[in-house]
Amino acid sequence: MIRTQVGIVGAGPAGLMLSHLLAQHGIESVVLEARAREYVEKRLRAGVLEYDTVNLLTETGVGERLAREGLVHRGLELRYGGQGHRIALDELTGGRTITVYGQQEVVKDLIAARLAAGGTIEFEVSDVDVHDIDTDAPRLTYRTGAGTAEEIRCDVIAGCDGSHGVCRDAIPAGVLTAYEKVYPFAWLGVLAQAPPSSEELIYTFHERGFALHSMRSPSVTRLYLQVPPEEDLGAWSDDRIWSELSTRMSTSDGEWKLAEGPILERGITGLRSFVSEPMRYGRLFLAGDATHIVPATGAKGLNLAVADVRVLARGLAEFYASGSTARLDSYSATCLRRVWRVQHFSWWMTSMLHRAYDGDEFGERLRLSQLDYVTSSRAAAVTLAENYVGLPFD
Ligand code: APR
Ligand code: PHB
Repeated sequence: MIRTQVGIVGAGPAGLMLSHLLAQHGIESVVLEARAREYVEKRLRAGVLEYDTVNLLTETGVGERLAREGLVHRGLELRYGGQGHRIALDELTGGRTITVYGQQEVVKDLIAARLAAGGTIEFEVSDVDVHDIDTDAPRLTYRTGAGTAEEIRCDVIAGCDGSHGVCRDAIPAGVLTAYEKVYPFAWLGVLAQAPPSSEELIYTFHERGFALHSMRSPSVTRLYLQVPPEEDLGAWSDDRIWSELSTRMSTSDGEWKLAEGPILERGITGLRSFVSEPMRYGRLFLAGDATHIVPATGAKGLNLAVADVRVLARGLAEFYASGSTARLDSYSATCLRRVWRVQHFSWWMTSMLHRAYDGDEFGERLRLSQLDYVTSSRAAAVTLAENYVGLPFD
């Protein structure tokens, strides 16, 4: 039997950052992760960090490699009708920027920091089960990678186990309300050994569908194409991917050239908006993808998870310092305010930039009008920019 203060399920950005922030307050935790360390350190996800996410990582001592290798972006491009329009993120937001740094790099840095500080992360566990969350002494049971049955007794459980986790399901039926929106398209994403073709991210709206140009380093690009939801990856040869990307991203002056290179990884991911409320039941607190999902347009998933666990860590710090549950009691409401703002922004970006495949010409005109407005009105551009760089954590 293991005794700790906070039992954390899931070593994604939410669980790891929570464990890291708690350690800063002298609060002990144990992280249980179903996958192997190598797996979570390689999992390819979005790569945009909001301004306050970067600051929090830096202030808490895990920003060293991020400062060296992260690519600070002061703007982004919206491209449609064969023309690019720059949104100057920093000028529109009083100097705030975003940093391109793969989420698995954040995960690697957090794992290294936890282990260096003597923290416990149990990888490759199975059969995690959540017990007694409606009492003051919740428990976690699980099997180690070697197959031994274990039990953790703690004060609080944090369910940071992502969209397929077990924690949310431990809450009795009827307590939670779920809100969901599924989009009629998906993203085909590739990671390519090719230098970025532009210094900034390019979000393209084209009659053949959305395309996104992103990057990971001066020699690696990350590119995405909107495809139908049931699309077969096998139908996309390398040539077809490159040709579709250049068609959608081409400019009317014919000047823009997409640098090509060997494709290192490829995959198709659906787009989904989901929120489950509230984010707490008894001594179980849910954070990150375990309780909300955003579509990838805008790359908010990691940032929202970090914002959640920051609120939770502060609540727990107050609880252990003074016995007060005031911040913990407002955890769900505090987080949900940001969650719904980010949900709206991600839905709005998604709706503005994707073809609907439903022949709705009225909707298509609305999208073009919205793009025209965002790229010609300062007020509209500020709205995009301040949400994109992330509203302040406080
Ligand atoms: N037992 C233990 N671990 C589990 C279990 C389980 N039953 N189920 C899932 N997990 C682990 C997963 O293997 C994963 O490593 O929980 C972790 C959840 O991590 P993420 O899916 O990354 O979710 P979260 O930490 O909330 O991430 C927030 O960051 O990863 C990005 O964009 C992604 O939106 C996501 C965001
Ligand atoms: C990425 O680099 O993977 C990325 C960037 C921006 C997005 C989504 C994904 O909106």
